[in-house]
Amino acid sequence: MTPTPITEAFDAVEVIAAKRDKHELTDAQIDWVVDAYTRDVVANEQMSALAMAILLNGMNRREIARWTAAMIASGERMDFSSLSWPTADKHSTGGVGDKITLPLAPLVAACGVAVPQLSGRGLGHTGGTLDKLESIPGWNAALSNEQMLHQLEDIGAVICAAGSGLAPADKKLYALRDVTATVEAIPLIASSIMSKKIAEGTGSLVLDVKVGTGAFMKNLADARELAETMVALGTDAGVKTVALLTDMSTPLGLKAGNALEVAESVEVLAGGGPADVVELTLALAREMLAAAGKTDIDPAGVLASGKAMDVWKRMITAQGGDPDAALPVSKETHTVNAPASGTLVRLDAMGVGVAAWRLGAGRSRPGEAVQAAAGVVLHAKPGDSVVEGQPLLTLHTDTPVRFARSLAALEGAFEVGDRLAGAGSVVLDRVIG
Ligand code: URA
Repeated sequence: MTPTPITEAFDAVEVIAAKRDKHELTDAQIDWVVDAYTRDVVANEQMSALAMAILLNGMNRREIARWTAAMIASGERMDFSSLSWPTADKHSTGGVGDKITLPLAPLVAACGVAVPQLSGRGLGHTGGTLDKLESIPGWNAALSNEQMLHQLEDIGAVICAAGSGLAPADKKLYALRDVTATVEAIPLIASSIMSKKIAEGTGSLVLDVKVGTGAFMKNLADARELAETMVALGTDAGVKTVALLTDMSTPLGLKAGNALEVAESVEVLAGGGPADVVELTLALAREMLAAAGKTDIDPAGVLASGKAMDVWKRMITAQGGDPDAALPVSKETHTVNAPASGTLVRLDAMGVGVAAWRLGAGRSRPGEAVQAAAGVVLHAKPGDSVVEGQPLLTLHTDTPVRFARSLAALEGAFEVGDRLAGAGSVVLDRVIG
């Protein structure tokens, strides 16, 4: 093992051992380990061990707040105070078919609140907003800070990639967690999300914390703890922060996959779309408007007026995309039929997410290309009646060799029975500061 250089304030092994032995880390230890990892003084294998110790033994609120502050301090901070608009941002902890940012950002902008949405690419079974938008011919995710500010002032909505200067410690650590089975640690998820959002400089923030099989948090108690931790971090940093706990036991809407989700978002902006996508878009819009102090406007009316669609077209055009161009269509499809007549009592988000991913909608290594047209279309949702032999799901891909593994992901992922499941509200609870 290479020892930590003697000029450093701590030794990585000491810090790892402290957390392994269930001790609290001091502020100085946290500041040092995050900074030294960013400087490549703490090695990946050492940070992997520390991340696993944190996953197993946890962190208290002070440690999480300090870890978040250290990640913010690893890079630049943005500032939207020069804008003539109030700002609000939304962050989802990640789910299947979660295309809400696409209709939400233009809707909230059409209501008078600017949305600076720094988004990511998908990794694993959850899709990434940038991958979805890149299925629109010509659309460009990479904007400079100046371009972003200009578009925000002019149009009120921007969805783009976070620059490399924002919380670089998180970029490095997130990639490491992804390959070391340490993503699902509440202190690490909370600090990862909130360091980026606080560094980004939004005035207010609404968190969509997903709960269920397709989410990182599988049960309501863990999701509530994550939401409370993030709301406290945001509130302490002076950002008005609210969280909704929302259902991710089944996919959102009827489409999972990049171009498929863009098409469904455009349906919502045109006044249609699946009821759960519309419900969640409006619920999050109301929270964002309230957090930004704008309570005199009804987002449902603005959506129906077509103004959000106008903002969408301007937002896509400003980033080089053609909002009226045809979206890519997959070369091959395969239909899965209902095995019996009855009620669809379960359609598992994780099964559908992994199926879409294996069809080519997601990547298994950073930097891999995704297929714009790959994904899964649902023909029924839990609670719907189905007839034996009717199409239940259609799989889309350009590479039919992928069908077999995608179908394997769907084994046991749906159930037709005689129980009336009755779809409940997608919003399960609300957490405020
Ligand atoms: N999203 C993030 O940005 N970070 C996490 O740790 C999990 C979801």
